[in-house]
Amino acid sequence: MIRRLTLSCLILCLSLASGCQQQNEAPPTQPSDQKAAALPDADGRTLIELITVTQDYRQWPMFPGKEALYQGQHPHGAYLTTYVSPPVLAALQNKSGKLPDGAIIVKENYSPEKELAAVTVMYRRAGYNPEEGDWFWLKYSPDQTILAEGRIDGCINCHRAVQNNDWVFTGPVK
Ligand code: HEC
Repeated sequence: MIRRLTLSCLILCLSLASGCQQQNEAPPTQPSDQKAAALPDADGRTLIELITVTQDYRQWPMFPGKEALYQGQHPHGAYLTTYVSPPVLAALQNKSGKLPDGAIIVKENYSPEKELAAVTVMYRRAGYNPEEGDWFWLKYSPDQTILAEGRIDGCINCHRAVQNNDWVFTGPVK
């Protein structure tokens, strides 16, 4: 009797567990235009507002495998801290191969003295620039003056080297 109970309990537990897993693995089903409608425009001011007022990017997770103030390379800065919006973290962890519409990566660029020199941002908007990964590029100073925004050739041409990693250098997306 006890063995039977244990067995049925085990089966129940297993089926519950696999049910959960299936839910986790199920692709997002919500209609994408509904999601897109909620996404802010690809515009520098709007994006700065989104990541500093509406949300605070410094509360977001850091790029997986990176700590605060890791050593960077030219041209971004001697030290870097890179944050990702929560859906980006999920996509990276799932090795999804492509970051979702609305994805945001924010990189703080520090001088050799570890002073914040600039913030550089990649923001994905489906349809914004399909030939070049649909990324909106933004660079702003610590006082939030916009230094560059949009389809910036400089950013695009260098990041093109990693276009088969969804234009992202810092770590694998698949
Ligand atoms: C000469 C090459 C080059 C140029 C130009 C460049 N980047 Fe990068 N970018 C990199 C490299 C390399 C990394 C990886 C971080 C590191 O180690 O420096 C990176 C990382 C990033 C990241 C973190 C996500 C990722 O791709 O890893 C963002 C955001 C970013 N760059 C934005 C920009 C923006 C915005 C511009 C233009 C204003 C720009 N980048 C111009 C080479 C470049």
